[in-house]
Amino acid sequence: MLAAGSMTRNYLEAATEIAQEAGKILREEFDRPAHITYKGDVDLVTQADKRSEQAIVERLTKYFPDHSVAAEEGTGHERASEFRWHVDPLDGTTNFAHGYPCFCVSIALAQQDTLLAAAVFNPFYNELFTAARGEGTTFNGKKISVSKNATLSSSLLCTGFPVRNRKLSPNLQYYGDFTQHSHGVRRDGSAALDLASVAAGRFDGFWEFGLAKWDTAAGVLLVEEAGGKVSDFAGNPYQLGGPVILATNGLIHEEMRAMALEISRRGSAPPSH
Ligand code: IPD
Ligand code: CA
Ligand code: CA
Repeated sequence: MLAAGSMTRNYLEAATEIAQEAGKILREEFDRPAHITYKGDVDLVTQADKRSEQAIVERLTKYFPDHSVAAEEGTGHERASEFRWHVDPLDGTTNFAHGYPCFCVSIALAQQDTLLAAAVFNPFYNELFTAARGEGTTFNGKKISVSKNATLSSSLLCTGFPVRNRKLSPNLQYYGDFTQHSHGVRRDGSAALDLASVAAGRFDGFWEFGLAKWDTAAGVLLVEEAGGKVSDFAGNPYQLGGPVILATNGLIHEEMRAMALEISRRGSAPPSH
């Protein structure tokens, strides 16, 4: 029987290996014309999403036959287990389909509500972010931590916009206000990489409405283990799949939260989902 720490390391090794394998598939597919279909609105899906997911689910099932796997394109499975893998086989599909190389594989393991291990891999730039609970976050093998920027006015932020029900999103209002009170707000199109960039100190803060569990599970652990803070706009712990996520270096968290609450009071209340 392995001790809890070494088990978590095993999980992380598996997540890392599988993310890199799937990354090879995405890299291969990136050089071919994308075959795009639509799940609704501007929610794209390509051959790459499907091939990547198939490889990930196959390997996870082989290594951990008793674990549940929740994967975006629907090929995962339920098991009577407290362990659940959250898989986004291609985060940043719209970027991918347009040849903009900001996309990744995102894989995380949770034991009930506790995230244990996470791997986010951008195969174009060969950027690998990993975290294991209690053991910190790494970028290509080196420990990283969030930025030390203590004020919103000197921060670089990031956000994203939904690929479904775009018209219902209140985010343009937030985008405008945060843009005017910071060094700027980037919109990179991959929530998992956005969170990895907060962990690495490239961004000081990130928020987005309506993200799914597979978008954020790995990124949340990366930010927390790099010393950052993750909550909702009310300051409550962020629940995977919750209506809004706020992830920061911790130092600008309250300032961002206060501004978000002020914006919502002016009439752009965040949707309940
Ligand atoms: C999307 C990306 C994007 C975010 C969208 C997500 P997908 O995921 O993470 O940054 O703004 O809300 O749906 O569809 O590329 O896996
Ligand atoms: Ca996604
Ligand atoms: Ca995806």
